[in-house]
Amino acid sequence: MVFVGLFVAVMSGCTPEHPQSTFDSHGPVAEAQMGLFNLLTWIVSVVFILMTVGLLYTIFKFRARPDSKPPTQTHGNTKLEIAWTIIPIILLAAVAIPTVQTQFYIAAPPEGEDKLVVNVIAHQWWWEFDYPDLGVSTANEFHVPVGTNIEFNLESVDVLHSFWVPKLAGKMDIIPGKTTSMWFKADTVDADPSTPEKDSFYGQCAEFCGVAHSWMRFRVWVDEQDEFDAWVEHEKSLAQDPDTDLAEAGYKLFLTKGCVACHSINGRPDAVAVRGPNLTHFGSRGTLAAGIKPNDDMNLRAWLKDPNSLKTGTIMANEAAVYINPDLALTDSDLDGLVAYLRGLK
Ligand code: CUA
Repeated sequence: MVFVGLFVAVMSGCTPEHPQSTFDSHGPVAEAQMGLFNLLTWIVSVVFILMTVGLLYTIFKFRARPDSKPPTQTHGNTKLEIAWTIIPIILLAAVAIPTVQTQFYIAAPPEGEDKLVVNVIAHQWWWEFDYPDLGVSTANEFHVPVGTNIEFNLESVDVLHSFWVPKLAGKMDIIPGKTTSMWFKADTVDADPSTPEKDSFYGQCAEFCGVAHSWMRFRVWVDEQDEFDAWVEHEKSLAQDPDTDLAEAGYKLFLTKGCVACHSINGRPDAVAVRGPNLTHFGSRGTLAAGIKPNDDMNLRAWLKDPNSLKTGTIMANEAAVYINPDLALTDSDLDGLVAYLRGLK
């Protein structure tokens, strides 16, 4: 009974309805991996069932009885030995050939097809997404066109991470000092058609990388080509000027409180640092703090007031002057101004 309960609990993680289910594969890479998984599962299931039936039959049929005599001793059986050498060879070949084929297929997008290159730079604990051919750099949420091969070059500025969008492709390790690569192609713009609004694909870091590892999330928005082009144009535009006195005050605080030591805002020559996420179009992102909360005034205010309240251990909480120097601590009106400014960066 305990086993059945455990089995149900574990298998409930496999429901395709879950936003991070690998059982709801979209696009050729995820489908190739899913196909391989299914093939291997069938093969090992058949082997498991045949072995188990044979074992149970043997145990029952040849069990010790009150009048059992010691069994006749034999040594060697050529037919059996040939059989249990050849059958595993066939099984391993049946596993190895599609595995190697799939590994080659998912290693790089097919030659000669259009592709879009995205450089992924992993940081403790957020994601930088750069489009070298488009001149776009963003953080924690990125867009790709539907039906286009997307090639990723993955790098880390600190420790091991792993890039994973379960519905689009399997994991790929991100290793300091080395560039790894992978690709995927999304076949739909909506990750969850059961909701009225278009949904993004959920991704997250899949390698333990420190205290906030589980909060190192991201979103992938899949767009029709014209939507994607419009997004790129928007991303390339410079940051909006503050449009209220409150936002203007927030911008001044952004400069004087030291936010510019880590964050860049395109079009602001005094905000060019790249240690933290680029905030040029922060207000147009759906989430904040690497995909952990909806990007709204309340969450942003809580985040700025005390980053540790949403996500423990960030560089911002540990090193930004406003959190370690009580003289520079943000007042309520400072928070109002910063929220107004940052949320206005559409
Ligand atoms: Cu990055 Cu776990």
